[in-house]
Amino acid sequence: KRHLISAADLTRDDAVLILDTAEELARVADRPIKKLPTLRGRTVVNLFFEDSTRTRISFEAAAKRLSADVINFSAKGSSVSKGESLKDTALTLEAMGADAVVIRHHDSGAPHRLATSGWIGGSVVNAGDGTHEHPTQALLDAFTMRRHLAAGAGRDLTGRRVTIVGDVLHSRVARSNVLLLTTLGAEVTLVAPPTLVPVGVERWPCEVSYDLDAVLAKSDAVMMLRVQRERMNAAFFPTEREYARRYGLDGARMAAMPEHAVVMHPGPMNRGMEITAEVADSPRCTAVEQVANGVSIRMAVLYLLLGGAVLDAPAAPAEPR
Ligand code: CP
Repeated sequence: KRHLISAADLTRDDAVLILDTAEELARVADRPIKKLPTLRGRTVVNLFFEDSTRTRISFEAAAKRLSADVINFSAKGSSVSKGESLKDTALTLEAMGADAVVIRHHDSGAPHRLATSGWIGGSVVNAGDGTHEHPTQALLDAFTMRRHLAAGAGRDLTGRRVTIVGDVLHSRVARSNVLLLTTLGAEVTLVAPPTLVPVGVERWPCEVSYDLDAVLAKSDAVMMLRVQRERMNAAFFPTEREYARRYGLDGARMAAMPEHAVVMHPGPMNRGMEITAEVADSPRCTAVEQVANGVSIRMAVLYLLLGGAVLDAPAAPAEPR
């Protein structure tokens, strides 16, 4: 495959290859020199039209650990503010020799447009488009679940029960996770206020519930979603107190989860709304670990898309082609 636009593009074998490759590459982080020469001479462009902390920095760290050159483009402060189009921005980057473009955009479908337009010749990786998808987030979430929930089971998530809670309507993380986790055999339940459930959710391969307390005891992982106020009409803002009471994860609810179950959050968090500080800072919450795992996943994605040299044991890195 040349691009990564949607979690739906990944077969189970594709997803397992990325996850297993990320496991290999994670070992690089444990070495004194955290670099492989695999993508030396290749250029990765981070093209961010929307704000990001975790995704942008981890793609940059991933590319650098593979020895690629990295160009960071942020729409803020660029000629986009003068009205330059996505096409002209892409043609400009192509002229600078981009081998891969990692794009985050406020419009759902922008990465697909970039991948199919012919404006650029390299690989396109979706780093989050509108309310559509965020496939590398889903991959790093699956990677984290495999480590916690399937370590002794050949890293197989079949039958694991994942509950995704909150603002599903605006969540590209939820959509990509439902698609990827079901491909990997997990069973997903979405829990949300009725006003934050997307139209057509009955066609998604998952269950839907409006009662968080009813599903907690049956969950192996509970993934809390950020309430995305910036994508809501102010008139539809839920009040923080009411939202937290019905859909927030606090210490009492966490205690109702099975002992082995983990709490996940893609970040950034609204502490006090979808998750209390007590839960966010508890050892059962994997939010910080998810960020670290994101570097390994993004290394694997860039490595596989850009046709890195044969993956060898990180102790004996292969030479670049
Ligand atoms: N999870 C996530 O995409 O975070 P950022 O918006 O900080 O990249």
